[in-house]
Amino acid sequence: MKEAKNCKLISKKEIISGVFDYTVESADISNEAACGQFLHISCGGKSFLRRPISICDAGNGTVRFIFEVKGEGTLELSQKEVGDHIDILGPLGHGFDIKNYKNPLIIGGGIGVFPLFKLAKELNNNANVFLGFRNKDRVCMEEEFEQVSKLSIVGTDDGSYGYTGYIASAMEGFIKNSPCDVIFSCGPMPMLKAVKQIAENAGIECQLSLEQRMGCGIGACLVCVCESIFEGTNKYLRVCKNGPVFDSKVVKL
Ligand SMILES: Cc1cc2nc3c(=O)[nH]c(=O)nc-3n(C[C@H](O)[C@H](O)[C@H](O)COP(=O)(O)OP(=O)(O)OC[C@H]3O[C@@H](n4cnc5c(N)ncnc54)[C@H](O)[C@@H]3O)c2cc1C
Ligand code: FES
Repeated sequence: MKEAKNCKLISKKEIISGVFDYTVESADISNEAACGQFLHISCGGKSFLRRPISICDAGNGTVRFIFEVKGEGTLELSQKEVGDHIDILGPLGHGFDIKNYKNPLIIGGGIGVFPLFKLAKELNNNANVFLGFRNKDRVCMEEEFEQVSKLSIVGTDDGSYGYTGYIASAMEGFIKNSPCDVIFSCGPMPMLKAVKQIAENAGIECQLSLEQRMGCGIGACLVCVCESIFEGTNKYLRVCKNGPVFDSKVVKL
């Protein structure tokens, strides 16, 4: 069984309002981390349960994660200062399978873009990347993604920056005219549903990273289950253990 590590916070930035970019030291987590896996973080005294946050990047003995303040846990986490230690369990879960795809496409929405950064890096500038945000004020990581992508398109739901409208629509138009053999996605549920539908209609393989509320994070409590196409004991899959990344054809959204 994995043991939690006490990791020193070595860099902290608020990249947009309420969204914090943290880098911690941990050679063990850094060496093991695969793209799409997550950390289960003890946020502080008031939040009894750990909170799941995706690995954004890892390497050279450090691990980077980015989170939005939502409630008590992430608020406490955002109050850590450089030099503080954070209790982190990880890396956990089953990440993206990056095999030998020729024309990968990545699509992320909102806080779902963070786990896609390490993935884009590992695809060696070969992925076409689509990033969607609510409005201009919520756009983040645009330049970093540009540096590790073949093509990078940013859109906003309200049209205040980049492509106007849902980013899944931009992706749908793109794949009509450009080769694509796999779609990787993470983001809000309506976006994931749209991406699943578009990929399946086009006959393109698709891997989705799901975000569910979690308890234990290690497969023991069943708080995080999602419905699958299977019957019997596999009808409900554990997002923390079987996922968070699933083949889109396996999960019912
Ligand atoms: C595998 C995984 C990876 C994640 N990666 C990231 C990440 O990289 N960056 C990031 O900002 N967030 C990420 N999340 C979401 C993050 O875990 C939640 O926002 C966080 O747990 C909220 O805790 P809280 O105590 O601040 O809020 P709470 O008080 O627990 O909840 C506040 C609000 O957030 C909602 N919420 C709580 N948990 C989740 C959840 N799991 N998914 C969606 N909404 C939730 C609640 O419904 C409520 O409306 C991830 C979640 C999962 C399951
Ligand atoms: S969070 Fe406990 S089984 Fe997934």
